[in-house]
Amino acid sequence: MSPTLDFSTRLIRWQRSHGRNNLPWQVTDPYRVWLSEIMLQQTQVSTVLDYYPRFIERFPNIQTLAHAPQDEVLSLWQGLGYYSRARNLHKAAQQVIQDFGGTFPQTRLELQQLCGVGRSTAAAISAFSFRQRETILDGNVKRVLCRVFALDGDPTDKKFENSLWALAESLLPEKADDMPAYTQGLMDLGATCCKRSTPLCHQCPMADICQAKAQNRTHELPRKKNTTTVKNLPLYWLILEQADRSLFLQKRPSSGIWGGLYCVPCFEDLHSLYRFAEQCGISADELEEQAAITHRLTHRLLLITPFKALTTDAALPSELSDGIWVNPSHLQNYGIPKPMNDYLKQKQYKLF
Ligand code: ADE
Repeated sequence: MSPTLDFSTRLIRWQRSHGRNNLPWQVTDPYRVWLSEIMLQQTQVSTVLDYYPRFIERFPNIQTLAHAPQDEVLSLWQGLGYYSRARNLHKAAQQVIQDFGGTFPQTRLELQQLCGVGRSTAAAISAFSFRQRETILDGNVKRVLCRVFALDGDPTDKKFENSLWALAESLLPEKADDMPAYTQGLMDLGATCCKRSTPLCHQCPMADICQAKAQNRTHELPRKKNTTTVKNLPLYWLILEQADRSLFLQKRPSSGIWGGLYCVPCFEDLHSLYRFAEQCGISADELEEQAAITHRLTHRLLLITPFKALTTDAALPSELSDGIWVNPSHLQNYGIPKPMNDYLKQKQYKLF
């Protein structure tokens, strides 16, 4: 491309010819755009392509979503992780009905009032659905800007972040009709060309104006936060509690996380939790979902969703005899994983 072309012209041309143009959420219906943006917040496109159509089929519009039971929303979300996104989605659908008369708001500032919608997501919805001249600024876009303009600020510094918002706003195309292609272009460039570890500069529309490339610094920009990489591990806890607040605990296998400690029944998927609960005579709608807990291990971030049910000793079948009922006054005699300890303390169990 000619070096005199500006950032937005390059990006829009490139997006139209080389960007991603057949995604099912590339529509103007703000409900569909919003749903896809929430799903894509912490999840890859390939995974969202699997979940999004099922979600749309069951909840084709804001009304069906707002009026659905929360359990059904959560069960369609199962496996996507970060369940607060699904709870916020459900709450936001109810906000659109109650606060906006059932019509999606169009401006970024109004969209930001919806649960789970931050500045960048609000900008994406308003740009894709309503051609508003608002800029997104997610991690991918920050990387593109830091490289094209050779910015080596500290990514955790609020002032630097503000300067990136201002820069991103200054780059917006003049014509509102270009906003969808421009916004998608920002997303596509970061995801397909300006990748974190091996950028594909030879196919980048910014190659001849990119200052990081000219200075041979693409590998060092943007500056890294000093953190190690962690994998997310979703877990589901079944808190079985008796009237005297005794808890059902199992000794963890010696290998694996929390080896040998005592913990409530713990599952890697919601179906196994439901199956176990059913064996205890507890149906899915007797399970009360609790606020999620995150817990960082060295290389993993546990995303724990506890489910609670009241039961009696007699209700448990004998096959579950590997577990024990522990009275709250004896809990301190058992080694309990840190996040469970924190959870119990928060629920007013007296612990050390
Ligand atoms: N990531 C976040 N939003 C996206 C979108 N609309 N298309 C592709 N990837 C995305």
